[in-house]
Amino acid sequence: MGILSRIGIALDSDLLKRFDRSISKRGYTNRSEAFRDLIRDRLVTEQTAAPDAVVVGTVTLIYDHHSSGISEKLTEIQHAHHELVVSTSHAHLDHDSCLEVLIVHGRSATVADFADRLIGLKGVQHGRLVMTVPTQGLGSSHDLGKKSKQKHSHKH
Ligand code: NI
Repeated sequence: MGILSRIGIALDSDLLKRFDRSISKRGYTNRSEAFRDLIRDRLVTEQTAAPDAVVVGTVTLIYDHHSSGISEKLTEIQHAHHELVVSTSHAHLDHDSCLEVLIVHGRSATVADFADRLIGLKGVQHGRLVMTVPTQGLGSSHDLGKKSKQKHSHKH
């Protein structure tokens, strides 16, 4: 973390009450952390919206595996873009429904196109892409690329 700066914000009191109720439901014990998270969320959203930004993310898919050729099509598209797919996890939810979650990594626009192709497949009932970046990479995508080459110091 950098040097802490203190700021004052003028807010409508009703808005502040609603905000306090909202953050207390979410388990925040102070406003500062809630504001920091809101700001980070905004910055992550902006950064991942840049087509060339390097992002990580998840693609969540729900589909009926009886749908004609769906399993083969999903596999084919993932193999064609294997460089974007870090890992996949599959759960058989019931007799018909499958949940598949992919961890993806790559340029924002490429990842979004890839997710759209999967989500748009006939037989996929619901799908969602979530893109993010490590918060220490909140500078430019150039900075993020540099960071990824740094030594990985923590243990998994
Ligand atoms: Ni399944």
